[in-house]
Amino acid sequence: MSDFLWGVSTSAFQIEGAFDAGGRGPSVWDEFTPIRDDDNASVACDHYNRWREDVALMTQLGVNAYRFSIAWPRIQPSGKGPVNAEGLDFYDRLVDALVDVGIAPVVTLYHWDTPLELEAEGGWLNRDIADRFADYTALVANRLADRVKLWIPINEPAMVTLQGYAIGEHAPGKALLFDALPTAHHLNLAHGRAVEVLRSFNAQAVGTANNHTPAWPATPNDVAAAEAYSEIHNWLYADPVLSGRYPDAVADLLPIQDGDLQVIHQPLDFYGVNYYNPTRLKSPSEGNPLPFELVEIDEYPLTNFGWPVVPSGLSEIITTLRERHPNLPPVYVTESGCSFPHEVEDTERIAYLDGHLKAALEAGVDGYFVWSLLDNFEWESGYSQRFGLVHVDFETQRRTPRDSFHWYRKVISGE
Ligand code: BGC
Repeated sequence: MSDFLWGVSTSAFQIEGAFDAGGRGPSVWDEFTPIRDDDNASVACDHYNRWREDVALMTQLGVNAYRFSIAWPRIQPSGKGPVNAEGLDFYDRLVDALVDVGIAPVVTLYHWDTPLELEAEGGWLNRDIADRFADYTALVANRLADRVKLWIPINEPAMVTLQGYAIGEHAPGKALLFDALPTAHHLNLAHGRAVEVLRSFNAQAVGTANNHTPAWPATPNDVAAAEAYSEIHNWLYADPVLSGRYPDAVADLLPIQDGDLQVIHQPLDFYGVNYYNPTRLKSPSEGNPLPFELVEIDEYPLTNFGWPVVPSGLSEIITTLRERHPNLPPVYVTESGCSFPHEVEDTERIAYLDGHLKAALEAGVDGYFVWSLLDNFEWESGYSQRFGLVHVDFETQRRTPRDSFHWYRKVISGE
């Protein structure tokens, strides 16, 4: 267990705030969120100014790894062109501070905050974004590759395609249904291009952070519906990256060019799984253009978000991944957590994390990252859903470790 990574995860847009400081350019999420009046992320956890306090919290917690994301619009305000030195300096200082206290930096290069100017050119619908992403990766790797332990090019491409472009509940708010599929291929291509670039800078370890869900048929008659859902949520991303092929049902709908699959399919040092809950599916009702319909899972406890608490779903999806991809590299659970509102006494979160950590250990993973260190800006739900081991008072920015923080500290230290 000595090499086991005990971590916490965050993302830039959800915690940093300081949306116009240090030369940062606007992202798709800055444009998307003002719709919600004052429930936007212009301040969030003010981590851009309070990062030292947050590193101190992690030292107190005893984690040996911290997964955070770099805001592309801080590095290249318009998504292309020369580096914004102030942006890179910010992450350089953070990485140094982490290394100083023995916390391994785990960097996600893209956690959904596409520079707005790139979106104007089509965003992930435009194949060129993979080249832009490779350029951006090189700028970051050139500065940080000597100290970053793990690299994750893209967080949860499935959610970008599904929530951002297919149904539009996330930025950039497009509801294209199946016409969103090219974004999946471009996200995969950008992953592959970034892996090439990171290798050229001798990155220590490169992997993924894919969102996975076991897809459960509601009845034996709904197996095809569950498989159809699993293809677009799980396999559209895992299959090409791990085995160089797309699921048959979607392959013809993707703008694949010669050589793309070789770029996408490169050896990885680890495979990151973000897991929250399983999904239950049934065959579509009449008039539904999709090949499946979601059904509520109501026989398990629910989080404040209404998500079912099913720890065995985590071991189930890891087993399924290993069966489907026998070459699966070591697995890290790169996100696992739940939303509960209590300021300090969060017994439900402790139960959630305890169950999921046990399932992860039983599945033989090499690391576990709790989502999240802090309460933060929870995308379309604003500040209404709290995922932190640390409570944040968004009026005063006061941080208060919850009971789950102390619980995790004891688990890590073996007390
Ligand atoms: C995302 C996080 C998000 C969490 C909870 C994950 O899919 O990567 O950014 O906060 O889910 O919704």
